[in-house]
Amino acid sequence: MSDESRPHRTAAVIPAAGRGVRLGPGAPKALRTLGGTPMLIHAVRAMARSRAVSLVVVVAPPDGNAVAEVRRLLDEHALPERTEILVVPGGETRQESVRAGLDALPADITAVLIHDAARPLVPVDTVDSVVEAVRDGALAVVPALPLADTVKEVEPGPPGEPEPVVATPVRARLRAVQTPQGFDLATLRLAHEKVAVDGEGATDDAGMVEQLGVTVVAVPGHEEAFKVTRPLDLVLAEAVLARRRATDAY
Ligand code: CTP
Ligand code: MG
Repeated sequence: MSDESRPHRTAAVIPAAGRGVRLGPGAPKALRTLGGTPMLIHAVRAMARSRAVSLVVVVAPPDGNAVAEVRRLLDEHALPERTEILVVPGGETRQESVRAGLDALPADITAVLIHDAARPLVPVDTVDSVVEAVRDGALAVVPALPLADTVKEVEPGPPGEPEPVVATPVRARLRAVQTPQGFDLATLRLAHEKVAVDGEGATDDAGMVEQLGVTVVAVPGHEEAFKVTRPLDLVLAEAVLARRRATDAY
């Protein structure tokens, strides 16, 4: 809650331990380059650009020497000096990776942003508006955008077979949710302790907090905060980066 006497120190945790299966064969997704720079470095810079963020925890792939490789990449690239950076190994699921990042946070952190390495181009204004909503007292904040497509709920069947449509939610009430998601740290820690998620684990941190019965609020997201998931997303990311470099000496 926004208790003025309490010092607010905000950290960002960047889960970057995924393989990037949907992107096709190659290096782990976070280590692939955009405009010649690893996606992970773009994501760290996007967090460090916010003056509110004084610590970034990068969650690296758990295998081999990925932690050392990530450390080396961070040392090679220019990053703001006021930002402290830690690297920890991740887990088999995104939820486990986020948990590993939370476990690495020092005791003076009160608020945390969880940001996908796979969203390298999120603008600093989006990051700042999430931080601001948390500082104003929200326990959980998601950046979100209205949908372009109508969404249907179906009864899932075998791939490629026609599937019966069971519902059409009113589009104006739907939002596509992005990261960074912002949290009161104690609330997110509680969710990780109390909420059991089967199978592949939670892919949405705010969803775990919702299950505690805590109100999650949405603030405006940004189209450039899209997630690099499939090969076509790389084409779009390169185009966004090229436009930025041409227009704002990025
Ligand atoms: N992630 C993670 N640990 C995992 C799985 C995912 O830290 N065990 C991270 C990814 O590195 C990514 C973010 O969670 O930054 C969002 O996940 P997603 O886009 O699904 O990335 P991947 O899991 O790498 O991709 P895919 O599902 O296509 O394999
Ligand atoms: Mg995944």
